[in-house]
Amino acid sequence: MTPLPGLGPIHHVGYVVADLDAAVAEMSRAFPLTVGVREVMEAQGVEALLADGGSGGAVELIRPLDPDGAIARFLATRGPGFHHVAFEVPDVDAALADLAARGAEVIDTAGRRGLGGHVVGFVHPRSTLGVLTELVQAGHGAAG
Ligand code: CO
Repeated sequence: MTPLPGLGPIHHVGYVVADLDAAVAEMSRAFPLTVGVREVMEAQGVEALLADGGSGGAVELIRPLDPDGAIARFLATRGPGFHHVAFEVPDVDAALADLAARGAEVIDTAGRRGLGGHVVGFVHPRSTLGVLTELVQAGHGAAG
């Protein structure tokens, strides 16, 4: 399969955790992190933060707020840990449309507001080797 159109660098790696502060403290024992944006995202039923590792890498930590939501189910069935990878693309709408046109299973058909004001869209793991994949529009958002 040809690469995703305009697939850029990794923007962040997402982890599901039970406790954001405890997760930052634990991760920081290995890799010092600077927490940037932190938000309650009501529509997704989560609270999330982006933390910068200082050398161009960033992690997104997500905890469930809605006990019936997808993130709560993920945490209950798989435990804390790796959840998704996010790549930068020049244009999320165009990338999602192109992926869908080539038969990929997109979760979002158009970009939407993500953590920190980033424009994001998700591709189903069935189309990306079993890994939930997020596309983040390059050059937007407050942090991360
Ligand atoms: Co993400």
